[in-house]
Amino acid sequence: MPTFKVFRFNPGKDDLPSFQSYQVPSFKGMTVLEGLYYILENLDSTLAFRSSCRMGVCGSCALHINGQYGLACETQIATLGETVTIRPLAHMKVIRDMVVDLEPFFAQYEAIKPYLVPKEVLGPREFIQTPRQRAKIDTLVDCILCAACYGSCPVVGTDEKYLGPQALLKALRFVEDSRDGETYERLAFVASDFGVFRCHTIFNCQQVCPKNLDPTGAIAKLKMKAIWARLTGKLKKPA
Ligand code: F3S
Repeated sequence: MPTFKVFRFNPGKDDLPSFQSYQVPSFKGMTVLEGLYYILENLDSTLAFRSSCRMGVCGSCALHINGQYGLACETQIATLGETVTIRPLAHMKVIRDMVVDLEPFFAQYEAIKPYLVPKEVLGPREFIQTPRQRAKIDTLVDCILCAACYGSCPVVGTDEKYLGPQALLKALRFVEDSRDGETYERLAFVASDFGVFRCHTIFNCQQVCPKNLDPTGAIAKLKMKAIWARLTGKLKKPA
């Protein structure tokens, strides 16, 4: 029966955060999320956490579990030993227990214009891509916005204006898209003071991504593209 040591904090009531311990009976294949539901339903109905799909798709249950960021629904208790210590994502205000205010994370995401800006006026037919053009964004479209990378990045923790690994990976997704018409405006934006050149290549974001995406690599690619665009005089001011 593992012990769950769970972060507790209600800013309206508590002066300081604390950890509360619960004994959780486990079974083969049981996940951390199932453990949290066991606590909620059987031991303590005041515990607050987020979850939705329970299958690694929605990204709602990203947490800090035994020193590593990851999805609670994809982390099996059997891999964690006798004590399971759970904290919320870092760098964001705690609303209650493991529920954090994701507003800054989504503000950075919105800032990179996470939508296609077509090159041409929309016609009656869809935009065609070749398999080769599509392959360029294959590994970039799978982000589930769980914010594990954002919580794990020490630069985000020290510079609230830094765009962060998720937004930058998403920016590359549109820079690489053959249908997008704002490639050089996007590159100018990510090359600005709070973009790619703030990254210290710490690799935490790459290590924790539950979808095995590579924000570190995406940032390196954006750096090279921005430098090349600057050298060739193509960088444009963002619209
Ligand atoms: Fe942060 Fe990832 Fe760069 S952890 S410093 S964005 S490599």
